[in-house]
Amino acid sequence: MKPQACELLIRGGTVIDGTGAARRAADVAVDGDRIAAVGRLDGVRAEREIDASGLVVSPGFVDVHTHDDRAVLSDPGMACKVSQGVTTVVAGNCGVSLAPLHGREPPPPLNLLGGTDWYRFPTFAAYREELEGSPPALNVAMQVGHTALRAQVMDGLDRAATGREIERMVELADEGMRAGCIGFSTGLAYPPARAAPTEEVLAIAHRVAARGGMHSTHMRDEEGGVLDSIRETARIGREAGIGIVISHHKCAGRENWGRTRETLALIAEAQETQSLDLDVYPYVAGSTVLLMEIVARSEKVLVSWSEPHPEVAGRPLEEVAREWGCGVEEAVARLQPAGGIYFMMDEDDLARILEFPGAMIGSDGLPHDVFPHPRLWGTFPRVLGHYSRDRGLIGLEDAVHRMTGKPAAVFGLAGRGEVRPGAWADLVLFDPDGIIDAATFEDPARPAAGIRSVFVNGREVWALGAAVASPGPGPGRLLRRTPAQGRA
Ligand code: ZN
Ligand code: CU
Repeated sequence: MKPQACELLIRGGTVIDGTGAARRAADVAVDGDRIAAVGRLDGVRAEREIDASGLVVSPGFVDVHTHDDRAVLSDPGMACKVSQGVTTVVAGNCGVSLAPLHGREPPPPLNLLGGTDWYRFPTFAAYREELEGSPPALNVAMQVGHTALRAQVMDGLDRAATGREIERMVELADEGMRAGCIGFSTGLAYPPARAAPTEEVLAIAHRVAARGGMHSTHMRDEEGGVLDSIRETARIGREAGIGIVISHHKCAGRENWGRTRETLALIAEAQETQSLDLDVYPYVAGSTVLLMEIVARSEKVLVSWSEPHPEVAGRPLEEVAREWGCGVEEAVARLQPAGGIYFMMDEDDLARILEFPGAMIGSDGLPHDVFPHPRLWGTFPRVLGHYSRDRGLIGLEDAVHRMTGKPAAVFGLAGRGEVRPGAWADLVLFDPDGIIDAATFEDPARPAAGIRSVFVNGREVWALGAAVASPGPGPGRLLRRTPAQGRA
């Protein structure tokens, strides 16, 4: 139905609606925080009109893999994300969540989010209260981090949890779900969670599933044992009856290059009988805390931050070691606590994952690094500009779907991810010929080109290369999960 008037009218654009459907010429009317109408809206009066000719109008992007738990509190403008067209971030990934760890030193990789001064939320309800007290520019969906639970209830992390400790973790996960988390995550590859047996994860998975949640995982092994890790992950999904997302899928280390042929075949096979999805970031380098075991299997390493040596952030690790007249191992020890950017993947594997039907996009950006991996600022425009348009790996409608409608269905974000009447007005206007990432490994904090405007719940938060300043709270909301009826 055509309204007579609306607050905002986006005229003359090409709508890509997020469902995967072909683009079409249509105007979009917005009233308050909702899309009021989509179609030919001649004669509709509007308080504000935007000429979108030559631009694509699509749903705002969902960054399904982030470590933005703290950033949404400490940097509520979230320029690194809204500048890419991202309107929702899923936080609490890789087992790392800001709540409910408190009163204890966060072990790596939990320290990616900050120190004890930031780990101060005894419950997810307390975290939510602070977030909703001063909302950020974009929407947030939270996950309970398994490693944060371990660090809270256990004294030593190099062993399996006892029955009593598992009970406490399940209680804390339950509190998270009641407070609005959409599910829980694991980071079984990292030292503080490595000793957790499958059964420990299953105990939490059962409770989270009973609460209608989902599960994402940074799997135990993304190298030689990657197939076994996929089997373990699929088993957790089947036994707990829980939907799973494999985080930042990759085959790391030169001897494993090419093995995405095997991993993707195994994932496709599992998908026939269970809900199993994956996300990927569009780079052949990863980034996390600085660990010698990852350095050892990387082609090249950049230091992304170092507490005792902030001056070396952005420089190659080998160069630092040479300058210090020591070995790489010694340099890694002296830099701690620290982070690294690791070149350890193969471009053909990356292309194969991006082409995999339904693969979602997650930046895995690390917002507190002194010299962050460029994925923090570049992920979504890089997929749209480089991999979709320039290399033709996936069509534009498909790429947009994997950033919008698909993740909204997988993560249960009702009313998001689609341009249709009644949906929330999370929107991006971008130039399909000009969109491209600008952040590089030399200059990582540069906003992408080609994003005209970004709206979150009807309010413009980014326009023409800059944040739209507005006093008071941001338009972002905490999103709860509404489990999807069918499959995405
Ligand atoms: Zn991870
Ligand atoms: Cu991550």
